[in-house]
Amino acid sequence: MWKPTEKIRYEPRPGEWPNKIQAEGSTWFTPIKIGRIQLKARTWVPAMVPWRSTEEGIVTDQVLSWYERFAKGQPGCIVIEATGIQEVPSGPLLRIGHDRFIPGLKELSDTVHLASGGQTKLFIQLIDFLSIRRRPEPEKYFQRFLNITDAHRAVIGAEGWTEQEIRDHLNTLDSNELGNYLTQRELDDLRMGARERVTDVQFDHIKQLPNVLPELFSDAAERAQKAGIDGIELHYAHAYTMASFLSRKNNREDGYGGSLDNRARLPLEVFAAVRKRVGDEYPVGCRFLSDECIPGGSDVDDAAYFGVELAKAGMDFLSLSRGGKFDDAKQPGVGEAAYPYTGQSGYECMPSYISDKFGPFGRNVEPTALIRNAIRDAGFDTPIVLAGGIHSFEKAEAILNSGEADIVASARQALADPDWFLKVKLGRGEEVRLCTYSNYCEGLDQKHKVVTCKLWDRIEMDEPDVQKSADGKRRLIAPIWTA
Ligand SMILES: Cc1cc2nc3c(=O)[nH]c(=O)nc-3n(C[C@H](O)[C@H](O)[C@H](O)COP(=O)(O)O)c2cc1C
Ligand code: SF4
Repeated sequence: MWKPTEKIRYEPRPGEWPNKIQAEGSTWFTPIKIGRIQLKARTWVPAMVPWRSTEEGIVTDQVLSWYERFAKGQPGCIVIEATGIQEVPSGPLLRIGHDRFIPGLKELSDTVHLASGGQTKLFIQLIDFLSIRRRPEPEKYFQRFLNITDAHRAVIGAEGWTEQEIRDHLNTLDSNELGNYLTQRELDDLRMGARERVTDVQFDHIKQLPNVLPELFSDAAERAQKAGIDGIELHYAHAYTMASFLSRKNNREDGYGGSLDNRARLPLEVFAAVRKRVGDEYPVGCRFLSDECIPGGSDVDDAAYFGVELAKAGMDFLSLSRGGKFDDAKQPGVGEAAYPYTGQSGYECMPSYISDKFGPFGRNVEPTALIRNAIRDAGFDTPIVLAGGIHSFEKAEAILNSGEADIVASARQALADPDWFLKVKLGRGEEVRLCTYSNYCEGLDQKHKVVTCKLWDRIEMDEPDVQKSADGKRRLIAPIWTA
């Protein structure tokens, strides 16, 4: 992963833990309304992909035990990992693109409600993503993938050559020379692996996205509702389709790109379709970016505009993340796919303990507060969820009490210690296992390996009934803590 040049090392800063009475009287542990339902606390576990479903995307026992473990910590809300709305192969990532996924998801919602003693609501993050190929061997790229055009013939001066001669010639050139003959997109495909963009309107399936996505998202939302899941988080963040429509880099000319209102058009249309399908009673919100954190990308002003428009449209909550784009991802090895959390924008999304003068804790607070202010100034009281490096009661409470956000989420801290919300609430904060922001978990995510935490995946391995990874080397869920 990318690291800031300063390379300053940070330790977790838990501050003072509250006693039980202080915790119970705190803002973090007071209820909040999300649309027509109420969360019992403003504590939140945002979406985290653990790579535990079947290859087809069906809920497994490992998926159930992963979410059950978080539910035992009784956060106000858990958001199920990014769950694919289309039936495209994507490894062991949950899917919801067909009714056959409903029974597994129903078991999941029952499991979470039971394990949390009814304290936790369960939302699901619905994702659409475009295709991405692994970085090819150069020879394979020139022989099979590159589409030879007249432009290549002209620039190489190869008018009389056969297509095969051109392919063979390109295969002999070094990187610098190729820069003279290939377009930037072709070079990107060669160096990073081919990746579809929402701006590829030359392909009919990309051109048609605005026509098909509202229904695909609505179908998925209806399935989630049928499965007893309590609400929907539309994934409008990071490197995926909907975020790419919102991006300042989206220059589609069909009314779905370019100006701010055109870029917001499809996200609003998707929401309108979902709302129509699931009704007003059912919570629907989205996760989007406070800043794309890439050159030429959307910034916090764009995000404030989107926030106001999404609130105006009637979203029940807005969750803010940042960065996590393909645009600045590191070059993958040959045979591997690019991963959107390896560049600087990825760092902004999941900052690690090696940081700059701003540190890894709370980098998303200031932009989120600006966006929330814009939404409040426009007259909307939509709850705003904030995440990014939060691992202390003091910090969460300060954020809420200063009006920077309405709900404070923690992903990696909750992974390091799924019981931490309950420990804090019971006045037992000293027992919290603090995340060190090592990003070991994120490294596993990058390799599509079952996600675990380095603080607990090798301990108490010989306890009875410990679920282990396929190689038997890691435990799959955090050791049990009894209150
Ligand atoms: C293993 C892992 C998987 C993640 N998967 C998702 C995901 O599916 N959807 C999403 O919006 N964010 C995902 N994230 C990002 C987190 O939700 C969160 O925004 C980020 O980790 C910053 O919060 P934190 O500092 O509390 O960890 C993931 C993070 C991790 C560590
Ligand atoms: S592996 Fe554990 S300690 Fe390291 S960042 Fe992930 S959750 Fe935190």
